[in-house]
Parts: sequence; structure tokens; C-alpha cells
Amino acid sequence: MSATASAPQIHNRVQQFIGTPRKMFINGKWVEAASGKTFPVYNPATGEVMARVAEGDREDINRAVKAARKAFESGPWPVMTASDRGRLIWQLGDLIEQHLEEFAQLESLDNGKPLSVARVADVPLAVDLFHYMAGWATKIEGNTIPFSPKYLAYTRREPIGVVGQIIPWNFPLLMAAWKLGPALATGCTVVLKPAEQTPLSALLLAELVAEAGIPDGVVNVVPGYGETAGAALASHNDVDKVAFTGSTEVGKLIVQAAAGNLKKVSLELGGKSPNIVFDDADMSKTISGAASAIFFNHGQCCCAGSRLYVEKSMFDNVVSGVVDEAKKIKVGPGFDAETDMGPLVSKEQLDRVTGYLQSGFSEGAEAVVGGRKKSGAGYFVEPTVMVKTNPNMKIMREEIFGPVVCAMPFSDVDKLIAEANQSEYGLAAAVWTRDISKAHRIAEKLRAGTVWINCYNVFDPAMPFGGYKQSGWGREMGHDVLELYTEVKAVCAAI
Ligand code: NAI
Ligand code: MG
Repeated sequence: MSATASAPQIHNRVQQFIGTPRKMFINGKWVEAASGKTFPVYNPATGEVMARVAEGDREDINRAVKAARKAFESGPWPVMTASDRGRLIWQLGDLIEQHLEEFAQLESLDNGKPLSVARVADVPLAVDLFHYMAGWATKIEGNTIPFSPKYLAYTRREPIGVVGQIIPWNFPLLMAAWKLGPALATGCTVVLKPAEQTPLSALLLAELVAEAGIPDGVVNVVPGYGETAGAALASHNDVDKVAFTGSTEVGKLIVQAAAGNLKKVSLELGGKSPNIVFDDADMSKTISGAASAIFFNHGQCCCAGSRLYVEKSMFDNVVSGVVDEAKKIKVGPGFDAETDMGPLVSKEQLDRVTGYLQSGFSEGAEAVVGGRKKSGAGYFVEPTVMVKTNPNMKIMREEIFGPVVCAMPFSDVDKLIAEANQSEYGLAAAVWTRDISKAHRIAEKLRAGTVWINCYNVFDPAMPFGGYKQSGWGREMGHDVLELYTEVKAVCAAI
């Protein structure tokens, strides 16, 4: 990575970490791939290879599942008290906090996001998640069911078993935390496959898993490609559950792969979230809110506010306000201190996003700002606001996963709600208005797993997150996630 005047130094440990090929973490040990293969990790700001990582495949997944099964059934993990388990999870959160700068730098180099954002969002949210889930370890309870004096009936909430977790590249560390936290709190064991685009922070996390004292085999991290390592994990017969975050297309493949042993499946998939602005909204907050709803993380958020519906009388104002915000965004390498928006994660995503821009133009949409790739190296796309859109356009229906918002005016509220819900997705939505009754009425009508009112992209480990319709199955975070990682056993004794 070329140093510029404003770029901070790469942390010594980060330099060291990316300077040597990284191995995979199986049964508490760092091992090469069975095939001996490694794969390249690119810096999206330059398009250059910056690290190499062991390339996991079926054989490595087999080894990792075996280790996870053993750790689930014997050894210290299944006999540990809930309190001790909670302490280990808390300790993992503390260790991440102690290594905040290293994680932030790895995320920025690997994913492209601004270092300043990784420092205040990705890493602290991962710390919070582990701390929150640590508390749940001691609070997983069953019920007694007094249906007859002749029987003692009660339920036990038991860990589901060996869990395969497949995560994406948009928030690499945070997605690992969302997955690992509840699995550990409930006493499961895990094989985690990070995205091939961004495997580095999960490998640093595995070092801390060992340092925290989490027993060998409880967490295994096998980097590799989706079609090989990912598919092997999803179809593995000795895996009890698979948790996946990524594209809806691959989500459907996961469901098919899981059919072999009918393992439980949870999915957090795509979105095309409507962001609705009424003319009575507080525009001093709404305009910057609508801009950050789409431009945060370069639009590479499953819940990005990518369809902007604005009440007709305010349409021009809001659009020109969001356009002004877009013009203020400094696009550049994540490591530069002035950067607000980094590159997209990969050449594939760059091609996908620019392909959507072309499709929008050919269907008659217009970019008021942006609309192009930035010239030069790296996978940079200009923040873009599209107008003259209509609901049938591909850019209004499909997930772009880039910094591209499609704006539409509305005048009739019932029609608006029908249109907002007219999507195969249902992950998130937002409403901006000063009329709180209207806001809650509309929140009820929107078919989405999260509805934000006068805010956007607000997350907390205590708030469940997940999708209606083709945005997924199940809820992550909050107490709802515990259901995804536990089985309920009814015990009934004649007395
Ligand atoms: P993807 O769904 O292919 O990748 C996500 C994860 O799934 C990665 O770890 C990948 O290795 C794995 N994977 C891929 N194919 C697999 C298979 N056959 N079996 C098991 N695992 C497999 O997403 P991709 O290709 O990186 O991005 C494509 C689009 O997906 C994006 O443009 C975006 O629209 C959407 N996406 C949504 C995300 C979300 O947070 N919901 C995150 C990433 C992508
Ligand atoms: Mg893919």
C-alpha cells in the first residue's frame, strides 16, 4: 500500500500478519490446507495482492467438523458452567477491544472501508456483541409444564450442536461476531468460513479465541472459496445447523445443500430497503440521514436504504440535499485520513455495480450526481443519486450493493406502502416524519424485519435483525437469536 502524507502507519503487527501466509485454525492449531494450496487476498484500493491465506476445501472442512464434533461431545466445553462460558466470551470481547487498532487496520486494508469508520463502528460493535452475548450464557432457561399431578414435565434448552457459519465480506469482523457470539453463549461449537475476499480479521479473531482460553475445537476457522469450502460445510452430514449471511442466490443453494441431513438453516440475505420521507420531516436530519442510509459502507449493506421515496412537494429539495451530501463525500483509499468512502470490495463487485448503473441508464434513469467508476486503479465508484426511475426498472428491484440510491416521488400514502412492499425482499425500511402516529402506523404496514423511524442503520446487539420474505430466515442478535442455536427438549417423568 503506497504511503501518502495523510496515511497512518500500518501497525507492526498488521504488517507482520499480512507479511506471512496465514494458516487455518483447526482444533486449536494453525495448520496448512490439506491440499497445501493458498489463495490471494487483494487490497481493493490498489487491486494488488497484499496477503496469502491457506485455501480450505472439503478435506479441511471435514477435519474442522470432526474437531468441532469432538469438542461438542467431550472435553471441557460441554461440562463447563454457564458462568465460565460467559466469562470466556466476555474475555474475547475484551481482547478484541485491546486489539482495536489492528482489527480496524485489517478491515480497512482487506475490505477497503475507511479506517476511521472501522475504528468507531465495526470493531466496537463486535466488542459489544460479545459482551452482550456473554450475559446470555447464564440466562438460557427452560420451563416447567404443570399439566398433570402424575407427571413432572419440563423443558431444557440445549445447544443445537456443531454449527457451520458462512459469512460475507461487507463487515468481516462484525459478521463473525454476530455468528460466533450466540453460538458460544448457547454452548455450540463452530466451523466458521469467512468470505474469500476478506479472510484476515477472522484469522486474527481466532488467535484471540485461543488467547481467551476457549477450548480447542470449539471455534475452527477455515478460509476458502464459497463453491468449495462453503459448499462442503453447508452440505456436511455431521453439521447440525448452518448459519449464512450473503446473497439470496447463494442462500437458496445453502437450503438445498442442507437438505441432505435436514440440518437447521438460518439466513440473512439481500435487501432493497425503502426509505420513506414525508414532507413534514425534520429536513435538517432527514437529508443527511437519507444520504448515510445508502452511502454508509459504500452501499455494501444488506439493509442499505436504496429506494428513496419522497413526498412530491419535497422531492426536489430532498434530492438536491442528498446530491449535495454525495458531492461532499471524499472517495479514496480507506487508509487516508480524509477518506469518507473507500473502494468497493472487489473487481467483481465493481463490475456488478457499474453494470447496474448502465442498466439504469439504458432503462431511462438519470444520475443527478455520480454514475461512474472513478478513473485510475482500485475499485472506486462515485456516490450516485438516480432519478427518473420507475418501479419496473432493474435498479429499483434488484440489490445493487453499491453507493447508488434510486429516488422516486410519491403523493398517495396507500400506493406508497404498496410500492414500498412490492419487493421480493423485506429486510429493512425507514420512515422520516414529525407525525409520530403516522410513523408508527406505517411501521406496522411495512413488511420488513427492521423499521427505523427518523434514523437509519442504528444497530445494537439487543435488537433483533433479519428479514421477511426472501431476505432470510430467523433473527440474529437480541434474545431471538438464541432460538436459532438451541433445541428444546421436553422431559416428562411419571411421578
Ligand atoms: P455470496 O453470497 O456469494 O458470498 C457470501 C458468502 O457465501 C461467502 O463466504 C462465500 O464464500 C459463500 N458462498 C458462495 N457460494 C457458496 C456456496 N455455493 N455454498 C456455500 N457458501 C458459498 O455473495 P458475493 O458473491 O460475495 O456477493 C454477491 C451479492 O450478494 C452482492 O452484490 C450483494 O448483493 C449480496 N450480498 C449480500 C450480503 C448481505 O449482507 N446480505 C453480503 C454480501 C453480498
Ligand atoms: Mg458469490
